[in-house]
Amino acid sequence: MSRILTGIQSTGIPHLGNLLGAIIPAIELSRKEDNDSFYFIADLHSLTTIKDPEVLRQNTYSTAAAWLAFGFDTDRNTFYRQSHVPQVCELTWYLNCFTPFPMLANAHSFKDKSERLADVNSGLFTYPVLMAADIILYDANFVPVGKDQQQHLEITRDIAGAFNHKYGDTFIIPEALIDEKVMVIPGTDGQKMSKSYNNTISIFQSDEALRKNIMSITTDSLPLEEPKNPDKCNVFALYKLLAEPNDVEIMRKLYLNGNYGYGQAKQELYDLLINKFEKERKAFNDLLTNPDEIEEQLHTGEVKAAGIADKVLNRVRKKLGYF
Ligand code: ADP
Ligand code: TRP
Repeated sequence: MSRILTGIQSTGIPHLGNLLGAIIPAIELSRKEDNDSFYFIADLHSLTTIKDPEVLRQNTYSTAAAWLAFGFDTDRNTFYRQSHVPQVCELTWYLNCFTPFPMLANAHSFKDKSERLADVNSGLFTYPVLMAADIILYDANFVPVGKDQQQHLEITRDIAGAFNHKYGDTFIIPEALIDEKVMVIPGTDGQKMSKSYNNTISIFQSDEALRKNIMSITTDSLPLEEPKNPDKCNVFALYKLLAEPNDVEIMRKLYLNGNYGYGQAKQELYDLLINKFEKERKAFNDLLTNPDEIEEQLHTGEVKAAGIADKVLNRVRKKLGYF
């Protein structure tokens, strides 16, 4: 059995890039029989940038609702809020005392954030130590993450390794699982879809808002009758990621033949999203109108997670001389 663990920042309603690039593949991984998955909402990390309690709470609910709507099985796995297993903060302190200052000062995500953000707080600086604690507190073996998190995983391995070296085997040294094949989902302007670029498509909005969102995808301005190049069109790129191969071929021919407008292709993409994600969109809305259901599922996970956290922390406390 392998323990797979990953944290999901709660910074808003997950967009199509988050769903196709992270949430759906992670749920598939959790369905493999030999995997025991710990997926959590990294809401302590969110506090480095979000200081409004209502926004923080809503982001947690919408992030959790997206995972649940896409079928993450919380009975077989463990789904929890980072903040509700506060043992992670105690471990973070211990790990801080084993983390060389220059290792954090050189982390590129800190350098990048400290240049971009007005509020450069110490939480941003020690962010990788909290992340290391998130991982080793649960004896995780594998951590699926995007390439941008690779350095954080190296820091985690370094800190856990330094501790083991001094005190004997205490922590499992985790490995990053970086899927090189994972597609970069394009946004409405053709760049990588990202909240930071304001080019996202959210399937979790009303039909009308989703339609407007799809109609805002940028295209060239070739007239209706002209043949068009499907491989240079954002609408086609998104359609291709989601539609059945037969339907993709049909749309390809329509583009090449001419007399087919971008408005028609957008309508086709909109209809596809509405049909393909009908069940998930409904489940998401139902969950958000009944946050008690989300609370209950998270609470169950938090009790399970805390049990393991206590065991690992006791191991650490003994080694350090507190017990
Ligand atoms: P954003 O760029 O919108 O802030 P995040 O950095 O919070 O998104 O991403 C959360 C997860 O979703 C990460 O695992 C990231 O790799 C994945 N992800 C985000 N945008 C895309 C995209 N356009 N294509 C593929 N995966 C994405
Ligand atoms: N830093 C990660 C991100 O921004 C989120 C995260 C927090 C995480 N703790 C983690 C990911 C532990 C994997 C394991 O995407």
